Amino acid sequence: MYKILERKEIAMRNVWFKVYAPHVVKKLQPGQFVIVRAFENGERIPLTPVMWDKEEGWMGLVVFTRGKTTMQINTELKEGDYFLNIAGPLGNPAPMKKYGKILAIGLYTGIVEVFPIAKAWQEIGNEVHTLQVTFEPMIILKDELEKAVSKHTAVGVPIDPEKSFPENMKNVTAKAREVVRDMIKEINPDLVFMVGPVGDQKAIFEVVREFNVPMLVDLHPIMVDGTGMCGACRVTVGGKVRFACVDGPTFNAYEVDFDELIKRSSYYRDLEMRAMQEYMQ
Ligand code: FES
Repeated sequence: MYKILERKEIAMRNVWFKVYAPHVVKKLQPGQFVIVRAFENGERIPLTPVMWDKEEGWMGLVVFTRGKTTMQINTELKEGDYFLNIAGPLGNPAPMKKYGKILAIGLYTGIVEVFPIAKAWQEIGNEVHTLQVTFEPMIILKDELEKAVSKHTAVGVPIDPEKSFPENMKNVTAKAREVVRDMIKEINPDLVFMVGPVGDQKAIFEVVREFNVPMLVDLHPIMVDGTGMCGACRVTVGGKVRFACVDGPTFNAYEVDFDELIKRSSYYRDLEMRAMQEYMQ
């Protein structure tokens, strides 16, 4: 059982939980994730700790409401409650090298995963520029990133109430492509790194490829065990089957079969929608 020391809504649909988990935090490195089960008979979901304190034994998780389980966590769990299980740290740490200039992009809550990696890259001597593109009320970690890296840019796209959510998301993608193109021209990065929905990763990769800049992506296919046993997280990279949980989550964007992953990621969308609607009734 993992006690919630603090709970705070930090933006629309984004809730911060400070959780006491000393044995997880002890070995945690930037780029690694945990698998959380909050409730009895509940779904296991992968989350990336955004920050942590090894001495005090806590880590910060930002849970974005995107389905039934995340909605249940964000509405039912309060300060003083417990997460049932937290497994981790899982996955490989992000490669900690001196690349030079790095543009690290987080779309929506992808910036949570970018934060510890970008901060660590800056600390070892890289010049890190971070970018979050999301809906206006969902901007997070702005102050923290401004302190942690060379330059942080947050772009909030207004939500058009006349349009559907997918239509609004297209505006975010279009804006992100435009800003990334401008930033690559301005910064001339040695590496681009990106975390976000896989469709957006493909859309941004297409821009980055025009400039022939190396690019890494953290992939988040559906995960179950997080230990390489179930096969749920398989992705094709460089023509080979890889498991994102044990071989990743960081991969060379130029080798990722994005189309296959986009298709696999949507397999359970109808079921996810139905589960959320039933929960809301
Ligand atoms: Fe089961 Fe990766 S989550 S193999």
